[in-house]
Amino acid sequence: MAKEKTVYVCTNCGQDSPKWVGKCPSCGAWNTYVEEVVRKESANKRPVSGLEPVKSKPVTLNDITGGDEPRIDMQDEELNRVLGGGLVPGSLVLLGGEPGIGKSTLVLQTVLHLPDRKVLYISGEESARQLKLRADRIPHNSSDCLIVCETSLEQIYVHIKNTQPDLVIIDSIQTISTETIDSSPGSLVQVRECSASILKFAKETNTPVILIGHINKEGSIAGPKVLEHIVDTVLQFEGDQHYMYRILRSIKNRFGSTAELGIYEMRQNGLRQVSNPSELLLSQDHDGMSGVAIASAIEGVRPFLIETQALVSSAVYGNPQRSATGFDLRRMNMLLAVLEKRVGFKLAQKDVFLNIAGGLKVNDPAIDLSVISAILSSNMDTEIERDTCMAGEVGLSGEIRPVNRIEQRIGEAEKLGFKRILIPKHNLQGMDTSKLKIEIIPVRKVEEAFRALFG
Ligand code: TYD
Ligand code: MG
Repeated sequence: MAKEKTVYVCTNCGQDSPKWVGKCPSCGAWNTYVEEVVRKESANKRPVSGLEPVKSKPVTLNDITGGDEPRIDMQDEELNRVLGGGLVPGSLVLLGGEPGIGKSTLVLQTVLHLPDRKVLYISGEESARQLKLRADRIPHNSSDCLIVCETSLEQIYVHIKNTQPDLVIIDSIQTISTETIDSSPGSLVQVRECSASILKFAKETNTPVILIGHINKEGSIAGPKVLEHIVDTVLQFEGDQHYMYRILRSIKNRFGSTAELGIYEMRQNGLRQVSNPSELLLSQDHDGMSGVAIASAIEGVRPFLIETQALVSSAVYGNPQRSATGFDLRRMNMLLAVLEKRVGFKLAQKDVFLNIAGGLKVNDPAIDLSVISAILSSNMDTEIERDTCMAGEVGLSGEIRPVNRIEQRIGEAEKLGFKRILIPKHNLQGMDTSKLKIEIIPVRKVEEAFRALFG
């Protein structure tokens, strides 16, 4: 038997090297090289001479038809939106997430509600019985979904050929292996080769395929970044195990925006779409509590109101502690420095804990103002009135900077019955406030916001 050929591959970027190296010359990551067995390359590949018969032919863009292909309606508003308006035929979608977050549930639930489509669900992780048990928890009518437990890529193609499905689900890509490669399932080379082969299948037959992928402890999809390069769309399902809420994010989408967000709630009987996130993100009863401020935030295209909670207390042990959940800790430290330096609050000897309600991670800079307000409110132990909300980015000199789509933020606050909203003064320019029922309080600096909130 010929000697196995191995290479070392960077798990971060997919770069390979004949020898192990500590630092990847391509992406600069340390200690990411792992040994992989590779398929023997066919030895006598001749270089292209230009005389071979060709199958494909270059055409001009104008000659290509079928610009807007009808998308497959997944019967799930959140999923459709995150996909950019439905599933594109022939696309390869990767759904990543931590174990137990609900990836299989989301996909199974979706396919169970898909009418008139033949779905082939390939499970490499669970037995058909386990799948049945799961499906029984989710209310559904009888469905055409075919289940097969299989891990060999070659066998999967046989099943696909026999059943001719309209949609293929593979749960999960890390359990699938091809016979052409010696390495074990889940290894980098297997994952890469199988995905590339499945991509080819999807494109050639115009069948959409959804791959479920695991996430490694660093939070990226296991199997390297290369996998993300291969597929058309990467969705990430995230959330805290301890909260019921799950967020579906699009990280890469060749057919739509990546700013979209889908919110679900994990119930006893499957996932429920949350179409009005504000209601869930505002906890109901904290009248008279200090340290709570409500921000009018935007994720994707949807505005929602979200509660920021802070707890400030005197540090008992030497170094004060700083911790933030759902918010960038460095950004919180910066905001604390702004409060200290520009507004004169002495927070250096205080522990500061910050929490965004619902286990949500918010990237919108417009929640800065509410973070600051929650911290000040807790520090002084004075509550912020319950019917006041705010939006604004805080700059290094303590100025409140304008935020995007202010009308939408104000509109959402008004819809939910808030009486007052603090907004950056710059945002007032050219805005017609005459029709608004909500009181607008423009602020230019952190001090002004402070006075408006606490008198
Ligand atoms: P699962 O879809 O198996 O996660 P993944 O495929 O991402 O590993 O989800 C498992 C979790 O979801 C499990 O802890 C139980 C919970 N769950 C519910 O709360 N309600 C349900 O109806 C179902 C099917 C699962
Ligand atoms: Mg699963």
